[in-house]
Amino acid sequence: MAATVIDGKAFAATVRGKVGEHVARLKADHGITPGLAVVLVGEDPASQVYVRSKGKMTVEVGMKSVEHRLDADTSEVDLLALIDQLNNDPEIHGILCQLPLPKHLDEDLVINSISPAKDVDGFHISNVGLLGTGQKSMVPCTPLGCLMMLRDHHGSISGMDAVVVGRSNIVGKPMAQLLLNDSCTVTIAHSRTKDLPDVVRRADIVVAAVGRPEMIPGDWIKEGATVIDVGINRLDAPEKGEGKTKLVGDVHYESCAARAGAITPVPGGVGPMTIACLLANTVTACCRANG
Ligand code: GUN
Repeated sequence: MAATVIDGKAFAATVRGKVGEHVARLKADHGITPGLAVVLVGEDPASQVYVRSKGKMTVEVGMKSVEHRLDADTSEVDLLALIDQLNNDPEIHGILCQLPLPKHLDEDLVINSISPAKDVDGFHISNVGLLGTGQKSMVPCTPLGCLMMLRDHHGSISGMDAVVVGRSNIVGKPMAQLLLNDSCTVTIAHSRTKDLPDVVRRADIVVAAVGRPEMIPGDWIKEGATVIDVGINRLDAPEKGEGKTKLVGDVHYESCAARAGAITPVPGGVGPMTIACLLANTVTACCRANG
């Protein structure tokens, strides 16, 4: 049977609609406008696209959007001074520093200088610890978006076998934590995992977050499993014309869709949910800041 295609684009539009309603109520009832500050250091082209898209959607849901674009050679002292200023700005409820940062900047130091209450990425060590112990925290946006799609599709995922392929701090590890908190039996697989195909074949839920185009083929997928593809990889597509490219995920879509029960497409799956969750996290941060 053909897999159900989980429409992240439509789901994200619904989430943004709810965020917009919440923002309108905060304005009308309390005179508060949630504000999100995005900091971009350097000119990484992919980061520029993300930051533009985040800013546009922040404004679309009625929130205040502030963008700080800094030169690639910005010093750590200057970046930390900007973050300190944003930490102390009562009109800013969420701060996101786009990663990756240029090599001369200490990413951990920068992330941990953001006030945990304004850390809408959920990357601050306090939020990592709170999530790890099942306490109220800011939850990283991409894993949160994946979890929302899984809950929406399955209702409960309690007791399911989940395999997360990839162990990054941004996606793999927090994803595994969220699945565990939802009572899945969780395996984190990575480049050193032995018999990766067999590990993936055991999974009721596969979350692919390795950043390698079409790495997971259909014959690794258990019949009827749910496949969440976090990868966004740009490949040359000469068949579309000279110099053209296409986006593909970390799973080979056609062969995985032939075996899966449900699958997220690329584009139009996880990607839109990430930004929707960022907006939702900003409203959450604003509400917590205002009691
Ligand atoms: N770079 C790639 N994904 C992310 C993300 O979710 N947050 C930030 N801050 N940077 C990223």
